[in-house]
Amino acid sequence: MNIRIFSDERTAAVYAAAVIEYVVQTTEHPVLGLATGSTPVPLYDQLVEFHQAGLSFAHVTTINLDEYVGLPPSHPQSYHAFMEEHLFRYIDVRKENTNIPRGDVQDLAGECKRYDEVIKNHPIDVQVLGIGVNGHIGFNEPDSVLKVGTHVVTLAEETIAANSRFFASTQEVPNRAITVGLQPILRAKKVLLLAFGEAKAQAVMQAISGDVRTSLPASILQVHPNVTFVLDQGAARVFLEEEKRKHATYNHG
Ligand code: PGA
Repeated sequence: MNIRIFSDERTAAVYAAAVIEYVVQTTEHPVLGLATGSTPVPLYDQLVEFHQAGLSFAHVTTINLDEYVGLPPSHPQSYHAFMEEHLFRYIDVRKENTNIPRGDVQDLAGECKRYDEVIKNHPIDVQVLGIGVNGHIGFNEPDSVLKVGTHVVTLAEETIAANSRFFASTQEVPNRAITVGLQPILRAKKVLLLAFGEAKAQAVMQAISGDVRTSLPASILQVHPNVTFVLDQGAARVFLEEEKRKHATYNHG
């Protein structure tokens, strides 16, 4: 596991964007696993800048992690709308090569199956992840078991509370989502987990150290052979304190 700690999220985003540019440039049919939320926004801004400077996404396929159940793509808080607003409308990715699960269909089980087929046919080259304050990745919430394939999940209270900032009230946040499971994440050739701000510091620390546990889904990344945590100082705070403490203990006996 690589850990990169930057002075601020903009610098961290430049690093992550450069990793993605390399994959896009050196892969014949690159597949990018993409995330939503506040965290990847500076990364997408940077990719847009790279595009304006000449990087093409015309041969890229994208696979998003999740979508709220009940929100059509036209809903401003849907992840379809998010991706349009922050990335897709600014770059030359082909619409037919972008994939996001539909949360507004009657047959959600059928949609999960359809999405698993899409994933099967497009193994991910680089997977971008955020992390929830409770350690979720995608919408794989802490639970006694973690699911492998795409599934419908009831969102944790912490997730609804955290995401209510995008809605007029907590009541408006959908309480279910459709999310990929852990398989495509663990099978991605490379994983970039981005975390910014002190609110994530505890979850980051727990993901990086200790054992893999279903109560902190991001901890499973410890078994991935090529994962980089891309952090700012805030998200790295607890980890750095712990390192300092360990170092002091080591030095003093
Ligand atoms: P955030 O969400 O980027 O909006 O903090 C991250 C996540 O929940 O995975």
